[in-house]
Amino acid sequence: MRQIYSPTRPDYRSAMGQLLVLYTQVDKLIMLACAERLASAPDDAARLGLAQQVGDESRHVAIQQEWMTRFGTDTTPVLSAPQEQAILAHFRALGWIDFLIDMYLCVEALGSDAVEQIVPLADPGTQESLRIPLADELNHIAFGVNRLREELARMQPAERQACLTRIPQRIADLTRTFFATGIDVQALFVAVGADFDGLRNTVLARKDEILREVATPLAA
Ligand SMILES: [Fe+2]
Ligand SMILES: [Fe+2]
Repeated sequence: MRQIYSPTRPDYRSAMGQLLVLYTQVDKLIMLACAERLASAPDDAARLGLAQQVGDESRHVAIQQEWMTRFGTDTTPVLSAPQEQAILAHFRALGWIDFLIDMYLCVEALGSDAVEQIVPLADPGTQESLRIPLADELNHIAFGVNRLREELARMQPAERQACLTRIPQRIADLTRTFFATGIDVQALFVAVGADFDGLRNTVLARKDEILREVATPLAA
């Protein structure tokens, strides 16, 4: 049977606190990765999207930091400094198409999907702290998905097919890398009241949905 934990339990507060620290660290890394990408972005539309996102993520970091102080969160980093550097190095090394896949399909779309599932289980203050960030993430996902569809539309058929085939593999690789960090996300999700198998199934369904969306050709 699914267990629901009370948000007043001490393990709820520490687990939710750790998830907030992780979310804030990821947002800061996204901000830095997008800021670095500005220099090599292929055109002005890409630069505008990235610049908007850098501003949004910096606002999310500020909102979360302010909320974590009021929530009494232990802000010890969940990702170590070497892990943060490895994530930035990963994004730095990617070509534009793989950057779009890893940043927007994997981190933004699937990461946000997991966070969205936590919101109904969260205390009102945490819910409010996630309201603006999650609304902005929808814009980031839309930017990434639309841009990837435009890039696919410009490719030759064989290249397009190779790219579409590569996407699920990249998502699987990045997911494996995330779980190899040693962060027990399953324990954290369970401690805040999530049904982990249900959550994973919802994220997998979202992955299938977004793969279909990306593979749909743009209207002529
Ligand atoms: Fe964000
Ligand atoms: Fe975002």
